[in-house]
Amino acid sequence: MPTTQESSTPSPIGRSTPRVDGPLKVSGVAQYTSDFNFPGQLYAVPVEATIANGRVVKLDTAAAEEMPGVRAVFHRENIGTFFRSVLGVGFDGICDERRPPFEDDVVRYYGQYIALAVADTFETAKAAADAVRVTYATDEPNVETDLEADDEPEVVATTFNVRERLQSKRGGAEAAFAAAPVKIDQTYVTPAETHNPIELHATTAIWEGSNLTLYEASQGVFNLRGVLAQMFGLPKENVRVITRFVGSGFGSKLFPWTQCPLAAAAARQLGKPVKLVISRKMMFQTVGHRPRTQQRVRLGATRDGKLVSLQQDYINHTAILDGYHEDCGEATAFHYSVPNLRVTLGRARRNVGSPTPMRGPGAVPGLYATESAMNELADQLQIDPVRLRVLNEPKIDESLGIPFSSRHLLECFELGAEKFGWSKRTPAIGSMKRDGLTLGWGMAGCAWIAARFPAEASVQLRDDGTARVASGTQDIGTGTYTILAQLTSQKTGVPLDKVDVALGDTSLPEGPISGGSMVTGSMVPAVFEAADKAIESLLTIATTAPGSPFAKRKPTDLAFEGGRVFVKADGPAGGASFADLLRRANVRLVTGRGKSEATFGNPKPKFSTHSFGCHFVEVTWQPEIARLRVGRVVTVIDAGRILNPLAGRNQIEGAVVMGIGMALLEQTSYDRQSGAPINSNLADYVMAVNADVPPIDVHFVDFPDKEINALGARGIGEIGLAGIAAAITAAVHHATGVRVRELPVKIEQLLG
Ligand code: MOS
Repeated sequence: MPTTQESSTPSPIGRSTPRVDGPLKVSGVAQYTSDFNFPGQLYAVPVEATIANGRVVKLDTAAAEEMPGVRAVFHRENIGTFFRSVLGVGFDGICDERRPPFEDDVVRYYGQYIALAVADTFETAKAAADAVRVTYATDEPNVETDLEADDEPEVVATTFNVRERLQSKRGGAEAAFAAAPVKIDQTYVTPAETHNPIELHATTAIWEGSNLTLYEASQGVFNLRGVLAQMFGLPKENVRVITRFVGSGFGSKLFPWTQCPLAAAAARQLGKPVKLVISRKMMFQTVGHRPRTQQRVRLGATRDGKLVSLQQDYINHTAILDGYHEDCGEATAFHYSVPNLRVTLGRARRNVGSPTPMRGPGAVPGLYATESAMNELADQLQIDPVRLRVLNEPKIDESLGIPFSSRHLLECFELGAEKFGWSKRTPAIGSMKRDGLTLGWGMAGCAWIAARFPAEASVQLRDDGTARVASGTQDIGTGTYTILAQLTSQKTGVPLDKVDVALGDTSLPEGPISGGSMVTGSMVPAVFEAADKAIESLLTIATTAPGSPFAKRKPTDLAFEGGRVFVKADGPAGGASFADLLRRANVRLVTGRGKSEATFGNPKPKFSTHSFGCHFVEVTWQPEIARLRVGRVVTVIDAGRILNPLAGRNQIEGAVVMGIGMALLEQTSYDRQSGAPINSNLADYVMAVNADVPPIDVHFVDFPDKEINALGARGIGEIGLAGIAAAITAAVHHATGVRVRELPVKIEQLLG
């Protein structure tokens, strides 16, 4: 192997780098899925069930079909065959709503697609969909908010795998709780929440013979390809999925939803490209949501604050079919040092569309509950909540009995407390005032899994001095284009503006889903190996091409640095640029491919790999006018090495904004009579907006985690949303004396 060295020019790694795709986005050149148009393209609009439980008895499509410009109204009788897809081995074939659209005449949730109108224009298709008359046999929907676990076996099937309902256990948690001198036993509730990316879910399907191309708003083009290939009975290679830019997803676009096969089936029947962009209302009905959770947390502790028992029994609502599991126990078993622990899961079926992962699935509602219980315990013990956590900081992952690869939560607490001024806190309720406002201060810790998905990439060096890096992963707005450019620039010495990045296409090397905050961590080894291979190929050319200045050398005599090849013994001064070498050899480009092995799902890991962090929050409370505001937030994150602090801070800030929404505003409400998510629009589904968001002070402790990859970079997309709601509700309690255990906090709860 020839030696390759990293560039001696300032490293692009760890440098705040504006998005390389920014100019394309702000100038409108970046094409999102619904921006693609094709000759002869038709438009499809689904007909939504207006009941949540029952059966379609009759569909009258006559009026719709007679409208000028309508090409077809599809339903169960004429849509053609869909096969069921199944879960594959590894992380493959994933789909939250497995039932193909129109498979039977049963309606199980409000808004379920029951027909599809296709026309020459979107407006005509919409009018036709509205003109379809439906007769239902209606049963009462079950959208009961009080959750009691369904009677399910000890081992249940979920979207991803089978799971034991006894999720984690050590010691004797019940007996230890019974004997504990100090106890907390509380139930915490988080509501259904809906992802609201700006970009609507969209599919354009194009058939050429038995080849299907899908332009799709997807966080995972390869998984989607696999599922759709199964649904149409095709070899995978016959299906191509393209997602150039994503207007965010927050998890709702991780896995395929039913509009995608519907568009593909309509295109198959009509022999034309079919575009289907769902409505904002449909976004609340058919493309997943974070399920409602109800979590009983029991803590037992000694009087000096050492945990002796931790129990968490949680339930999430789920759809009638399928088995989405919101893993509220994700962080529980390793986050605290406690000898006796028991975590169980349960699910309660409701007439709702399938839930799906939403930013920080599981850990976000889970840590809201466990961190809230910790805050309540601190208050009961009259111990500072930071001190309580320090007292219960584990030395190893006690659930697996293995060390953490890198855990610097205590440093996060220390830095956060210092930046926030935590030592000035006076614990008595309502005791802190400023400018006529009552202040409330609260804090919480957080954690999020860190791992690698399998990932492949290619890197090219080209005779014009540019490079190209390609992988079939996606940039969902988080900065993947930029990170891949930085990684490639680091290895090849090609400046960022001369690195082309290709993403979001199943014709590229197989990349991971944009999920789990795992893309960056997964891509580092793949891109680095690909770059090394491209350089290796370049050195072969340098030593073999006639006329090359290195023609008499062996590749092992040569080094590559800063885009130049030189003889190791002579140093870089006498070298030649790779572009020059390629031109002399009349070679346009050299390509290398690289691969990262997965660590996600490893049954016997040597290290427990997670990111950690904490939030310190100030709320202001004006009891006279019942005005509650989040006044400032300090967040400190331990996510390994931060490759791009600008993009990294932006991720954490965005998550904190979402956390303010989670704590104070967001909830999807289901109407008891119709079963409909009734606030299914951006006016009634209230999210945090600029006026709700205070200064957010984000810090990274920056300890590289070499177990994850050579750079030590873990993910940062999701962790910032974990724990923040518990910090806010603790601050609300500190200001008002009201302990809110059901999110979101409502003003009426605070009026004493
Ligand atoms: Mo995230 S919920 O893994 O997109």
